[in-house]
Amino acid sequence: MDTMGKLLWNRREWMKACFAAGAVGVMPHWALAFDTTGFDVKFTGPDSLRSHAQERGLLFGAAVNPALLDMDGMAAGTATDPYTILIATQANILVAENSMKWGPLRPSPDTYDFAQADRLMRFAAMTGQRVRGHNLCWHEQLPSWFKTTATKKNAPKLLTDHIHTVAGRYRGKLQSWDVVNEAVEPKDGRADGLRNSPWLGLLGPDYIELAFRTAAAADPNAKLAYNDYGIELDTDEQAIKRAQVFMLVRRLKARGVPLDAVGIQSHLQATGPQPGAGLEKFIRDAKSLGLDVYITEMDVNTRGVDGGAEAQDAAVAEVYRNYLGLVLAEPNVPVALTWGISDAHTWLNASHGDWAKRADGTPQRPLPFDGDLRPTPAFVAIRTAIDSARPVVASSPQKWNESDPAQMYQPFRVPDSPRGANMGAGSPSQSIVTPRQQ
Ligand code: XIL
Repeated sequence: MDTMGKLLWNRREWMKACFAAGAVGVMPHWALAFDTTGFDVKFTGPDSLRSHAQERGLLFGAAVNPALLDMDGMAAGTATDPYTILIATQANILVAENSMKWGPLRPSPDTYDFAQADRLMRFAAMTGQRVRGHNLCWHEQLPSWFKTTATKKNAPKLLTDHIHTVAGRYRGKLQSWDVVNEAVEPKDGRADGLRNSPWLGLLGPDYIELAFRTAAAADPNAKLAYNDYGIELDTDEQAIKRAQVFMLVRRLKARGVPLDAVGIQSHLQATGPQPGAGLEKFIRDAKSLGLDVYITEMDVNTRGVDGGAEAQDAAVAEVYRNYLGLVLAEPNVPVALTWGISDAHTWLNASHGDWAKRADGTPQRPLPFDGDLRPTPAFVAIRTAIDSARPVVASSPQKWNESDPAQMYQPFRVPDSPRGANMGAGSPSQSIVTPRQQ
């Protein structure tokens, strides 16, 4: 067992002992959380990714599974669950990993299930975090009824009703929406580069424009993004796809379609070719069209890395350092999120596909916190990249009192959050906002 494992084990044993001795009542809630250092790096309060991003005017965050969040604990200010605490303290923007997609939201053609999506919104309102919506139109994770129910005749209404209902429900509360996801696929052989998706088959190429115009009407304040993957590298295949994506967004802008940003998913590999000049040019070309670029789903696949945890961590940290160094240096990249917060919950370890499996059968380590929710070298790499990307523009949203460790876990509000702005007297979240911030 390594040192960190030992630390955690000791903590667990210690907690067990405390519970057994009935001593829990006298322990401050932070003590029940977890140590604030992992391989000697502090990562809470002023040392958190949230704090570093916030001070530099960046939105940095992670994809979340709302079902895992301790809502009651967060509302009462007593949360001790490490996942909940990491999500609250390491991000100033969140996105639902799955809960706002068609499949989870649409159990039947006539019904919506907003339970998980609403849960995320409630959490973010309590913690003063922004939220992005993902996504309103995609060829995957469609509900099972879609295939037998959608026709050319009803498809326009199906799409626009969904967007009106979903984007309308969160109107004014979201930072941005991924309106259309992964609509480009050069391998499908069309001159316009579009993917042969169910939406294309039902509605023709104009479905993209319809989705954006409908989203703009449903939530005029959310920034609207086109999101895609496989456009980061300088390989021939990715350079071609990147060019097709650029042609698409240029077409949309030329037609006056409401489009504010391009999302680059950034599911990167720890081995093999890395992003470079082509991506930098793409970001600058996007700027010339008046577009921002968001890093929407970053993680680093370690399937190609030989060696154990240490080798993986070093490779992953280097990719984060180089990639975020490259993209965050561009002034039109104000938002970056990782696809999950820890290796304990990552789609790369949930997937059974060969593209996600390591030869030695061990789990992947793609994120800034490991399977025990302890910071990895990637955490430090991300924080350093954030620090170098921008000058400090805002004083810390909270004056941290290091002699009161409980404070180090306190979420703080984000000044430009519409929900945060409402967090006044009488709000259930008041208990977790210190008077200093009001
Ligand atoms: C993934 C989720 O992480 C998984 O839990 C789910 O089973 C499949 O979808 N591109 C996207 C994301 O835009 O929505 C995908 O998320 C990952 C690839």
